[in-house]
Amino acid sequence: MADPIVVVGAALLDGGRLLAARRSAPADLAGRWELPGGKVEPGERPEDALVRELREELGIDADPVERVPGQWPLRAPYVLRVWTARLRPGSPAPRPLQDHDELRWLTPAELWDVPWLDQDVPAVRDVAPRLTAAGR
Ligand code: CDP
Repeated sequence: MADPIVVVGAALLDGGRLLAARRSAPADLAGRWELPGGKVEPGERPEDALVRELREELGIDADPVERVPGQWPLRAPYVLRVWTARLRPGSPAPRPLQDHDELRWLTPAELWDVPWLDQDVPAVRDVAPRLTAAGR
């Protein structure tokens, strides 16, 4: 089997809330919500890819905090790996620049109010306990 290509997803936490991003493309994913991120480029460290993707897609300066254990299969050859992340002090607020048309900061009670991409659901479930532990 070919080596998987890693897609990094960010569980961006702030004030006890999780950022969810609604995809605007491609058509089969539009309207569904995801953890923002994207493909790791050849030779790139996944943590660096995460920082780059968050800058490109949301215009923010953010740092990965810790890896959420596990990985989740996407359409072959991709697998999703997730890191929690936080905004650097002084970062602009996230805004949808690419791939997304709406953002929401979800409280723990709101976590399942959006239709997540099926493939992101297990990762969101694993992140949920960290949300309540993340301070408010
Ligand atoms: O931005 P880039 O082209 O690197 O990647 P992307 O189009 O955002 O994501 C690559 C693939 O991973 C797409 O097929 C997305 O549907 C999938 N993906 C996902 O399933 N869940 C995420 N949280 C992020 C991406």
